[in-house]
Amino acid sequence: MYCVRNVTEDLYWVGANDHRLALFENAYPIPRGVSYNSYLLLDEKTALFDTVDFGSCRQLIENMTHVLDGRPLDYLVINHLEPDHAGSIEEVLLRWPKVKIISNEKAFMLMRQFGFHVDTHDQIEVKEGDTFSFGTHTVTFVFAPMVHWPEVMVTFDVTNGVLFSADAFGTFGALDGKLFADEVNFDRDWLDDARRYLTNIVGKYGPHIQLILKKAGTILDKIKYICPLHGPVWRKDLMYFIQKYDTWSRYVPEEKGVLIVYASMYGNTEAAAQALAARLCEKGQTNVAVYDVSSTDVSQLISESFKYSHLVLASVTYNLGIYPKMLNFLMDMKALNVQNRTIALIENGSWACKSGDLMQKFINDELKDMTILNERVSMASSLGTDKVPELDALVNAILESMA
Ligand code: FEO
Repeated sequence: MYCVRNVTEDLYWVGANDHRLALFENAYPIPRGVSYNSYLLLDEKTALFDTVDFGSCRQLIENMTHVLDGRPLDYLVINHLEPDHAGSIEEVLLRWPKVKIISNEKAFMLMRQFGFHVDTHDQIEVKEGDTFSFGTHTVTFVFAPMVHWPEVMVTFDVTNGVLFSADAFGTFGALDGKLFADEVNFDRDWLDDARRYLTNIVGKYGPHIQLILKKAGTILDKIKYICPLHGPVWRKDLMYFIQKYDTWSRYVPEEKGVLIVYASMYGNTEAAAQALAARLCEKGQTNVAVYDVSSTDVSQLISESFKYSHLVLASVTYNLGIYPKMLNFLMDMKALNVQNRTIALIENGSWACKSGDLMQKFINDELKDMTILNERVSMASSLGTDKVPELDALVNAILESMA
């Protein structure tokens, strides 16, 4: 059965929702699923903007067949070659063999690398700023390298203000019927997944996102719709989401608050983390989030570290090193460029307490623009009441640094 929605009068969402995929990129849990957005324009000529993951190909073909209603597919515009969007290119070419492919040099190279057999089809190679007309609609191509791959471009329909934004402004989460961001409570139900998507997929490439935001800034008043490759389409309150992207890509904390991540083998380091959280709340700072590094997917921790201004890392010492899952979190913070935060440390060790010094060294050597508070809590196996002054000193230091 086809499943389509109108974006505008002559532009259709013909993508697919996927609730069967457990791990996006075989790495990130997506309990709310994901959508692969593909858009079909019916102008004097017809044009498909990007395809879907091969696992959802049949849905795409059924949707396209319904919307085309016997018309040929004239053009296939490829903005991004990652297989969650490009995986169905070959099938589209087989079904509509006369289609002309519009993309850029790097993308055509990747199509060949992936073995999509595009060389038997007409190819129109575009460059930054080129325009193309499908009849009444004229589009222009704007390159957005590393948002998320080097070949990425976005396509702007100058006729009606539709921006096909590729991965930018995307989010995890299946649409389940609701196409537009104004049809859901985005801030309540989608923002966390949008942040987790952005920070984990392109968190490393903040400067590249800033570049595309700068390009978009010159035509902001002309953008009426943002059509990303994942998640809802934006047609209202565009600045809400654009500002979130600006904040995340500049590595500016979204909120003043404290993220406490603990690594605890037998509950004692966890008890210290909880005691710290309670004291912070007691003193009025209730924007506190506590996570067990062992049971929380690291993608969630990365997302939260982009959200909060302050991080407390509480770790046991393990084989005279940092607890492996805490080390993995630190390495992911490095990989995704988490920076410009205030960090406090809690260390634990039964034979030898090393984790605090090792975490401090990692942060100093590997992460950018981090401020580490001097007031560290050190404990041997468990936090005794004799450590209350140390704990209080840490609470006060955190609160003072937030003032
Ligand atoms: Fe959704 Fe970079 O692909």
